[in-house]
Amino acid sequence: MNSATFPILTTERLTLRRLSINDHRDIFDLRSDQEINKFLDRQLCKTTEDAKNFINKVNENIEKGGTYYWAISFTDTKQLVGTICLFDFSSEKNSCEIGYELMVKFQGQGIMQEAAQTVIDFVFQTLKLKKILAFTHYENQNSTKLLLKFNFLKSIESDKENPNLTIFTLAQ
Ligand SMILES: CC(C)(COP(=O)(O)OP(=O)(O)OC[C@H]1O[C@@H](n2cnc3c(N)ncnc32)[C@H](O)[C@@H]1OP(=O)(O)O)[C@@H](O)C(=O)NCCC(=O)NCCS
Repeated sequence: MNSATFPILTTERLTLRRLSINDHRDIFDLRSDQEINKFLDRQLCKTTEDAKNFINKVNENIEKGGTYYWAISFTDTKQLVGTICLFDFSSEKNSCEIGYELMVKFQGQGIMQEAAQTVIDFVFQTLKLKKILAFTHYENQNSTKLLLKFNFLKSIESDKENPNLTIFTLAQ
């Protein structure tokens, strides 16, 4: 998948587009903020260079196929407010995993709900997959609330590698 074929998704307020290297400051903010990363087990950005390397890696993975990673931006101001991604595709299970994050000042406005709706529709209607998984820390209330709004079901078993992660699934 290249820049020409990457799917740009739009909603009432938002444009979901591919990341560009010019987004490095926003990506740095997202991947260094203590509050956003509180429940996320991932390597934080310490420098601008880390953010640029991350963007390059994301775009390389998109080009190889099998992952989608969108910058969520306001259509009118072009402000980047967060990201949403699909990864860990399984042709056997007809499934993929979803991940998302919003800058703190843009939380509590229904933005992720709007972005997630269009990405969920994309998974079921365009990619024609049957199942979406989400792994979220059991104390991550905001993420759990979002998943429950979309009727994701909480699995009885937690992630074997990290028992703090609850597994949610949405099947079509
Ligand atoms: C998970 C996360 C994206 C949720 O963000 P959010 O802004 O709470 O999610 P939503 O878009 O669903 O917004 C819901 C809130 O907006 C409010 N809201 C305001 N206007 C709204 C509108 N027009 N439509 C819908 N909801 C609206 C809702 O009442 C709700 O508020 P509440 O939490 O006080 O009940 C955010 O907490 C985050 O980025 N966390 C850090 C990263 C993370 O943990 N990611 C999950 C990895 S598994």
